[in-house]
Amino acid sequence: MCQDDKKVYETIVGRRTIRKFRPEPVARELLERLVDAARLAPSAANLQPLEFVVVDEAALTAAIFPCLKWAAYIAPAGDPRPGEEPTSYVVALANTKVREKMFEYDLGAAMENMILAALEEGVGSCWMLSIDRDKLRAILGVPEDYRIDSVLALGYPAEDPAAEVLGDSCKYWKDEAGRLHVPKRALNTVLHLNKF
Ligand SMILES: Cc1cc2nc3c(=O)[nH]c(=O)nc-3n(C[C@H](O)[C@H](O)[C@H](O)COP(=O)(O)O)c2cc1C
Repeated sequence: MCQDDKKVYETIVGRRTIRKFRPEPVARELLERLVDAARLAPSAANLQPLEFVVVDEAALTAAIFPCLKWAAYIAPAGDPRPGEEPTSYVVALANTKVREKMFEYDLGAAMENMILAALEEGVGSCWMLSIDRDKLRAILGVPEDYRIDSVLALGYPAEDPAAEVLGDSCKYWKDEAGRLHVPKRALNTVLHLNKF
């Protein structure tokens, strides 16, 4: 679906982490555009320590999948089942020769840029830190002076998770129909106007 007329705010409000995907591939051109969106994100001191590996070859995506841990609160119910795996990945690297630490702020901005740019084109994603970095490094041939920070798993969504108002617990859950519900703090619990 083309969502060109959607405002950024609407895309933000409608975004949920996706962990079940349809098998259609994401176009290489779009994956490259996501990295373009990432490289243009704000960067502390404009040092730009981040680089990205786009992975869309079937043999490599199959090799990456076992390196990932999904939805820890409900494991294994949040795992993509066979046929629901991500069809591509963007692996985010930090060049430690450029910046040894504090690249996480840049990383967060770059990842969110990619997540929103993908969603605007109907592509869902899961930002992942629970990853086997040693295995990934070997699979992708990442040099030792690059830190493997995050993986963005991508594909066309095969689920439609719902945001809920946070109650007692921040743990997301699945209902009887298998739909994921994600509790979010209400605006009035995070917003302070003028004074705390
Ligand atoms: C830095 C970061 C790391 C994450 N790592 C994982 C992960 O390893 N596996 C996973 O299934 N989800 C991961 N998530 C997704 C979170 O579980 C998800 O954002 C959270 O449950 C809220 O859901 P929402 O994204 O739909 O708002 C991560 C999210 C962030 C921001």
